[in-house]
Amino acid sequence: MQKLVYIALGTALIAASCNKQTTSTIKGLQEAKDNQTFADLDKARIKHLSLDIETDFKTHQIKGSASYQFKNNNSKKIILDTEELTIDSVLLANNKKTTFKLGNRDAVKGRALEIDITPKDTVVTVYYKTTSDANALQWLSPEQTHDKKQPFLLSQGQAILTRSWIPIQDTPSVRITYDAKIKTPKDLMALMSAINPKEKSKDGIYTFKMPQPIAPYLVALAVGDVNYQAIDNRTGIYAEPNLLKDAVWEFADMGKMVTTAEKLYGKYPWEQFDVLVLPSSFPFGGMENPRLTFATPTAIVGDRSMTNLVAHELAHSWSGNLVTNSTWDDFWINEGFTVYFERRIMEELEGKDYADMISVIGFQDLETSMRNIPKEYTSLKVNMKGKNPDDAFSDVPYDKGYLFLKMLEDKYGRQKFDIFLNNYFSSHAFQTMTTEKFIDYLKQNLTNNDDSFVQEWIYTTGWPKGVQKPTSKLFDLAENQLQQDIKNSRNKVSPKKIAISTKSTNEWLHYIRQIDVDKNTKEDLAYLDEIYDFTDSKNPEIECAWFEKAFLLHYDKVNKNAKEFLVNVGRRKFLEPLYLALKESKQFDLANDIYKSARPNYHFVAKQTIDGMLNYKP
Ligand code: BES
Ligand code: ZN
Repeated sequence: MQKLVYIALGTALIAASCNKQTTSTIKGLQEAKDNQTFADLDKARIKHLSLDIETDFKTHQIKGSASYQFKNNNSKKIILDTEELTIDSVLLANNKKTTFKLGNRDAVKGRALEIDITPKDTVVTVYYKTTSDANALQWLSPEQTHDKKQPFLLSQGQAILTRSWIPIQDTPSVRITYDAKIKTPKDLMALMSAINPKEKSKDGIYTFKMPQPIAPYLVALAVGDVNYQAIDNRTGIYAEPNLLKDAVWEFADMGKMVTTAEKLYGKYPWEQFDVLVLPSSFPFGGMENPRLTFATPTAIVGDRSMTNLVAHELAHSWSGNLVTNSTWDDFWINEGFTVYFERRIMEELEGKDYADMISVIGFQDLETSMRNIPKEYTSLKVNMKGKNPDDAFSDVPYDKGYLFLKMLEDKYGRQKFDIFLNNYFSSHAFQTMTTEKFIDYLKQNLTNNDDSFVQEWIYTTGWPKGVQKPTSKLFDLAENQLQQDIKNSRNKVSPKKIAISTKSTNEWLHYIRQIDVDKNTKEDLAYLDEIYDFTDSKNPEIECAWFEKAFLLHYDKVNKNAKEFLVNVGRRKFLEPLYLALKESKQFDLANDIYKSARPNYHFVAKQTIDGMLNYKP
């Protein structure tokens, strides 16, 4: 009963807000310019993509064609983005060949593909192939997979990598539906951000349909030896056969998670929510590809404590995939809302203590980012003109974005804020959002035109005034435990083994993070290691946090395991602090030795970050 009232109230407010929107400033309604694309959307704008491609695991190439239906505004040219693609030919309707030109290479945008059309044309087909090292794609050998039997291919489109495997108008301000025919070697399953198969096909041919319009960075492909297990009628897991059982156990709450998210912000808009667990070199924790979230296997820690990662990608189903940042300057519109939403989902599912823990961890990450990244990237809205959006990647859009929304929640009350968000999502569904359009909407629907503090939060670099630092009771206990253990170390109390399962992964993460490298010593680390066996932990979160402290304090006992970890895991969030710790502790030989063995396992985005950090010239 209560829910009905709530929805009715929500609808009333949508109507109210729409009226206001139409009379609001024109500025806010104009489309923002995306500096990371060559496309001229006023002239010709893609609406639908049809892919017909083959994945060649021998040459590490994708070959085939991409057809587009587009809206033609009387133009004689349509411009697509490409990066290191070979264009063989371009056809108009009725298979009529047309002329095209690949422009000079821009270091960020790649090359413009300018296709000659007539003002009447609305369809083109591009025959193309990728180079063997397309930035979006990672071709893994069997040894690089979990089961070590079959090769694997994955794509990562965000932010501007889709153009390296599909010629496309690679800007989030475009929305397309798509269909695809993918030919793979037999014994492998192809999966996309689309309606997916649940079993392998006999002939290695798969067809896909994505009926809802999505931004091009969300077009995704994976090909590998995976099986499917349903969790409920709209959620399930794809993973390599020998990993599937553990993955299903870890993420068993996924069905409940979707229901919980729906109670907060409205009906799940994409029908199916599946997770594909990838090989460990996947560069991110998760990627919110619609209908099929891509996830790192490092979230399978055995205690279900990293499920906020799934909540995060699920939350993107609203913030990001449904209401999409208009350009990469507005990236916080995707991530800030998603982190806020992720923590609300986790609070519902796991309780406030859990949500508090991940908020504190996020705050610590934000403190690190604020200290280390260029100042210009510490505001929510950034200016990436002439730059790669990845240069600004940090915890700022995530956790400063979160703090901003949490501040709004605290100021106006949770109930009012929830209604506001509900309406925000439903009234902008399948649309893009600029920071300015959001501020407009906020002023009209929540803050009653007061935006003095809003301007500071969004446009000013550094810390805004009056930030509420999150706290966690469980973390206070973990900190006390650490102080006690360090005291015992100093007083030479003989160490007693304690099973690590006495606390959750997040508590251990906090415990280890609190080790003070200025005050504590490698002897202290050895003592803690005696008690908890951190060096031999098989939990990637604990390994990463522990190896970082160990590198900084030259506790060499970890070196063998740390190297193995860095060779096997390609998740950038883990690589960055570890290579940085080696650099800061001046262990350049060790860093280079490890990187030489590990680099072939990393995806382009991870290589790019670590190459830069270590001054590595490939
Ligand atoms: N969409 C991001 C990943 C991303 C961002 C890829 C920008 C490329 C460019 C994804 O939703 C994300 O934020 N993943 C996090 C998960 C974490 C916050 C739980 C990650 O990978 O660590
Ligand atoms: Zn995200």
